[in-house]
Amino acid sequence: MRTAMSTAADGVNAESVYAKEPQLVITGVLTREHPRESSAHGVHRAGPVDVGLRARAARVLGGDGVRPYYDDGGITLYLGDCRDLLDAIDADVVITDPPYGETSLLWDRVVPHWIGSVGPRSMWLFGSLRSLLRMGPELDATDWKLAQDIVWEKHNSSGLHADRFRRVHELGAHFYRGQWADVFKAPVYTHDAVARTIRKKPKPAHWHGETDAGTYRNEDGGPRLMRSVIRVRSEHGHAEHPTQKPLGIIAPLIAYSCPPGGTVLDPFAGSGSPLRAAKDAGRRAIGIEIDERWCEVAVRRLAQETLVMA
Ligand SMILES: C[S@@+](CC[C@H](N)C(=O)[O-])C[C@H]1O[C@@H](n2cnc3c(N)ncnc32)[C@H](O)[C@@H]1O
Repeated sequence: MRTAMSTAADGVNAESVYAKEPQLVITGVLTREHPRESSAHGVHRAGPVDVGLRARAARVLGGDGVRPYYDDGGITLYLGDCRDLLDAIDADVVITDPPYGETSLLWDRVVPHWIGSVGPRSMWLFGSLRSLLRMGPELDATDWKLAQDIVWEKHNSSGLHADRFRRVHELGAHFYRGQWADVFKAPVYTHDAVARTIRKKPKPAHWHGETDAGTYRNEDGGPRLMRSVIRVRSEHGHAEHPTQKPLGIIAPLIAYSCPPGGTVLDPFAGSGSPLRAAKDAGRRAIGIEIDERWCEVAVRRLAQETLVMA
């Protein structure tokens, strides 16, 4: 990804960023001071270190707590209902694709009562406008505010209706809690600016966001903020999961909203695209998936070597 885009946080010392983060319940406890036992399959067994998670999960599940289904190289996957586990997990950002509730697929049922248990204060939700609007009341009730949205433009259509526009996009909406100034963000740039002088009007009184300097000169091929409409081929035809997200649409979200060395959380992991993208970006990740079939697929994808782009 570094060939095509860079972030304002590139070059930042991962440890110093990490040190400023609040104590991470799982990532901090499980990975920093405590070595883990590992099995022959890359599926690691939690050692005696996940006491916090186990205690909390045990309270919810009434059992001995939860062992990761997979845990290797900073990527952890749990098999279970995210609503049983989210309370015990913290991370830097949620990037997830919850069921939209728009198809007849058995697992595609809207899942209520999870958004309030999310620990991070920054969250990207993929969805259709319909599914996101449906989540509106719960997002409002749990103090999530909308920051921005992106459009994933696909190469093929996924519309289910013959009497509407041909649907070739999905939305990604970014929510935050607390103060926007406290939310980690490393604006992503593409290197395709056209040479010209940009003159910005003075900041209007009603505007709260940050703007660029008043006048500046773009150079050909120079950096400019990545556009909010992002064209990436869908996985249609070679995906294992029916709604598998391509890594290319997740990578910029990770670069933007997860600090180097930080952790991405995906409560609806499916085939593990955000986990895989986090691994490729050198971030940690925690996923939860309720269906073992998809956990197996995710583990297979995670086991593949990371592609290093020249
Ligand atoms: C839209 S898919 C995610 C696809 C994923 N982004 C990918 O690229 O493969 C939603 C996933 O959430 C899972 N799921 C549904 N209810 C869940 C729950 N309560 N807890 C955890 N996972 C759940 C489904 O089994 C399904 O795989």
